[in-house]
Amino acid sequence: MSLLASLKSGTFFLAAIACIVSTSAHPDDVSGLYALVKRRMPGHSNAFTFNLSTTASSDLDTFTMRDASDGEGDTQIYIECTTISACARGLYTYVTEFGGVDIWWTGSRLYQLPHKLPTIKDPVTRSAIVPYRYFFNTVTFDYTAAFYTFDDWSLLLDWLALRGVNLPLAWVGYEYTLVEVFREVGLTDAEIADFLSGPAFQAWNRFGNIQGSWGGDLPTQWINDQFALQKQIISRMVELGMTPVLPSFTGFVPRALHSLYPNASIVNGSQWIGFPSTYTNDSFLEPFDPLFAILQKSLIDKQIIAYGSVSHIYTLDQYNENDPYSGDPAYLQNVSSATFASLRAADPEAIWLMQGWLFFSDETFWTTERVQAYLSGIPGNNSMIILDLYSEAQPQWERLSSYYGKQWVWCELHDFGGNMGFEGNFVNVTAEPLRALTSPGSSMVGMGLTPEGLEGNEIIYDVLLDQAWSPTAINRTSYVSSWVSRRYYVSDLPSSAVNAWEILGATVYSNQDPSSQATVKSILELAPALSGLVNRTGIPTIVFYDTNTTVVPALQMLIQAGYESNSLLNIPEFKYDLVDVTRQLLANRFITFYETLVATYTSNASSSATVAAAGKPLLQLLHDLDELLLTDDYFLLANWISAARSLAYGNASYAAFLEYNARNQITLWGPTGEINDYASKQWGGLVGGYYVPRWETFIDYLVGTKENGTAYNATAIANTMLVIGEQWDAQTWGQTESWGTVGNSWSVVQALATKYT
Ligand SMILES: *[C@@H]1O[C@H](CO)[C@@H](O)[C@H](O)[C@H]1NC(C)=O
Ligand SMILES: *[C@@H]1O[C@H](CO)[C@@H](O)[C@H](O)[C@H]1NC(C)=O
Ligand SMILES: *[C@@H]1O[C@H](CO)[C@@H](O)[C@H](O)[C@H]1NC(C)=O
Ligand SMILES: *[C@@H]1O[C@H](CO)[C@@H](O)[C@H](O)[C@H]1NC(C)=O
Ligand SMILES: *[C@@H]1O[C@H](CO)[C@@H](O)[C@H](O)[C@H]1NC(C)=O
Ligand SMILES: *[C@@H]1O[C@H](CO)[C@@H](O)[C@H](O)[C@H]1NC(C)=O
Ligand SMILES: *[C@@H]1O[C@H](CO)[C@@H](O)[C@H](O)[C@H]1NC(C)=O
Ligand SMILES: *[C@@H]1O[C@H](CO)[C@@H](O)[C@H](O)[C@H]1NC(C)=O
Ligand SMILES: *[C@@H]1O[C@H](CO)[C@@H](O)[C@H](O)[C@H]1NC(C)=O
Ligand SMILES: *[C@@H]1O[C@H](CO)[C@@H](O)[C@H](O)[C@H]1NC(C)=O
Ligand SMILES: *[C@@H]1O[C@H](CO)[C@@H](O)[C@H](O)[C@H]1NC(C)=O
Ligand SMILES: *[C@@H]1O[C@H](CO)[C@@H](O)[C@H](O)[C@H]1NC(C)=O
Repeated sequence: MSLLASLKSGTFFLAAIACIVSTSAHPDDVSGLYALVKRRMPGHSNAFTFNLSTTASSDLDTFTMRDASDGEGDTQIYIECTTISACARGLYTYVTEFGGVDIWWTGSRLYQLPHKLPTIKDPVTRSAIVPYRYFFNTVTFDYTAAFYTFDDWSLLLDWLALRGVNLPLAWVGYEYTLVEVFREVGLTDAEIADFLSGPAFQAWNRFGNIQGSWGGDLPTQWINDQFALQKQIISRMVELGMTPVLPSFTGFVPRALHSLYPNASIVNGSQWIGFPSTYTNDSFLEPFDPLFAILQKSLIDKQIIAYGSVSHIYTLDQYNENDPYSGDPAYLQNVSSATFASLRAADPEAIWLMQGWLFFSDETFWTTERVQAYLSGIPGNNSMIILDLYSEAQPQWERLSSYYGKQWVWCELHDFGGNMGFEGNFVNVTAEPLRALTSPGSSMVGMGLTPEGLEGNEIIYDVLLDQAWSPTAINRTSYVSSWVSRRYYVSDLPSSAVNAWEILGATVYSNQDPSSQATVKSILELAPALSGLVNRTGIPTIVFYDTNTTVVPALQMLIQAGYESNSLLNIPEFKYDLVDVTRQLLANRFITFYETLVATYTSNASSSATVAAAGKPLLQLLHDLDELLLTDDYFLLANWISAARSLAYGNASYAAFLEYNARNQITLWGPTGEINDYASKQWGGLVGGYYVPRWETFIDYLVGTKENGTAYNATAIANTMLVIGEQWDAQTWGQTESWGTVGNSWSVVQALATKYT
């Protein structure tokens, strides 16, 4: 199929979906956009007119905006569009390019839109370059949104809608319908509870990587509350013009299903990253078993009753970091064909969306022959959407011949586990999607963001969604400068603020190092050891830039900007960036101190005294870092824990369970450190309360071996670290720690900048 035909069919599906959506939101009902304006710009609630019209010449989402008048000489803005999503993008284009304000992960600043609205003058018409603008990784629901309230969702969904996202994943509350389906086939609540994973780990249970919950069973209250939350999320998504990608039945079932249906074809999935088989090797009901289609239909029926007929697109992953029972191409084709048939039997217009991560992560298994066989089980090219999950660094669409004609989405992954280190590849996320879209025979139909977590580096996500509305590659220099001027919305923005970001744009956000194309993890977050911490690839710890000529001058310029414009210090995003850049400076300096410690310890001339002395600056740096992070609300461990605990509404044992989940995810990740430190964070309270004790213990240990003349024992120290982790995970916050911020960012940043540059 040609690119154009494929794009057209994509558009056709969207139009079809819009009609179905009409049961809950009429296709020409733009009331969700008026509600958004009221919510975020109450001072301008009557200033915008949205008009859904289908007169645009493009098949792709298009808006036109122009000035209108309220009859009293005040500017009004008229936005005409082909879809609700296009109108939302039109509104975004107005508020950012004409109004100079934006909405961020750190909060909406759209209320700062000038009282007297700037005029547009010549009408502006823009079209998306792809039918789908996608958002979310299955695991974002845990690394970022595990403990979200609807207010948090509301901010994020407005962020998405305004940027033109029309295809978000919607996993919240899945377990409610799943449990009903399992009960229906005769499983007891205890048998079901053995299968479901904890609140901070549901994504991997949904993927079939893990089963069960360490630290206690998943409470019914959680399942019910999340289901209620999902209803709010879905209706908000729909009213903002987005088609939610809904869950479906994947095949992963409680172990006990095998005894209930001894003749059913149930196989064990593979073992996931060192978990014991009680927690992994999930039972998989093979899709060609007749029971599979029954469960599928039951689940989809229940979702339609709960949410309305709001979408025909279903997320369904069977082999994400999970090897198929057989590598025989005929088997793989059989599995996908039966799976798809079950979807279509439940929803005649079903489209199957899958994450393509496996084709990269398990490339040895997924040979072109096997991929082709698996995909060929799904008829036609439009019944499936594949997320090319890590396109900015490990694209698979070329190896897999544009997925042999199936629709696919170019996705920027960028972040592993909500890690916070600076990184970005501006050219790869602007020019590359265009190259993919226009490459011969391309069946690319969308662009999207699939970060595992949302932690900093926001510019590198913004630009991809902007690129989805620009037929030419976005120019970094001009992008950075307009991005900074709306991020720091002050009338007297000093050029030093823009210069700071130009340096970052040209260096940390223009990463050319192929072995570190993802957020860089700081080694201070890793369990201390004598080797193996620095220069890791995969989840990189390589600092690919020279801190002295990038982070250092950027920080100095931001500080200078703070002196030149006092109003900057009242901008939450400016404060965030000051703390974030200082954080990165300290994190990078830590490596030098660590290497000095290691060199001292391993040199023959060292003594317990020289080792202790080499450890001092390292520990001092961690204390300094903790002090810094505690000054800003966006860098607090307390907020993560408090978000978790507050979902227990005062039930003490439930709150303790949620807190354990929250703590375990960012530290041991597993009952006994199975993927230790994968989702580590630089948060005030975590650095001081966890990383400091680990490094203190490590240094004491090194000093002790020098005193005793004993050899370094890597296993012994690793076990000690595990015990510290288990103890920390079992603690309760707030006994001695404070819940809010401590200290003043501006003075702490200046002191640390002087100390560490
Ligand atoms: C919307 O556009 C249609 C067609 O151009 C026009 O007839 C109608 O008056 C417009 N509605 C508003 C509210 O401007
Ligand atoms: C399983 O299959 C065997 C042999 O075909 C049959 O005798 C038995 O009744 C079946 N059991 C169930 C529970 O269907
Ligand atoms: C699957 O794993 C369970 C529990 O570890 C085991 O009892 C069972 O025999 C396994 N089933 C297969 C088919 O390997
Ligand atoms: C778990 O999966 C691994 C392969 O990843 C396999 O070797 C092992 O036998 C499985 N265990 C069970 C109980 O199925
Ligand atoms: C799939 O495999 C099952 C079990 O081996 C078999 O019964 C079924 O006929 C196969 N279906 C197709 C379409 O190959
Ligand atoms: C799907 O796309 C492939 C590759 O472009 C093409 O060969 C095939 O004919 C298409 N299939 C259909 C049903 O359009
Ligand atoms: C981006 O714009 C700047 C300033 O206008 C220009 O110097 C630069 O060459 C442009 N970069 C690219 C890649 O076009
Ligand atoms: C992304 O950038 C890296 C580093 O410059 C480069 O090696 C890689 O090939 C690029 N990826 C793609 C898909 O172009
Ligand atoms: C890490 O890489 C840097 C830069 O290539 C190098 O200077 C340093 O020696 C490496 N450290 C280790 C422990 O490999
Ligand atoms: C960076 O600056 C620090 C502190 O001034 C200095 O110790 C270090 O040698 C510099 N590193 C490089 C690579 O220039
Ligand atoms: C330390 O001593 C050992 C054995 O005595 C020797 O092989 C090694 O080269 C020495 N290392 C240094 C850094 O002096
Ligand atoms: C050193 O020896 C003391 C006394 O026997 C012991 O308590 C301590 O654990 C030892 N430390 C190390 C690091 O071996």
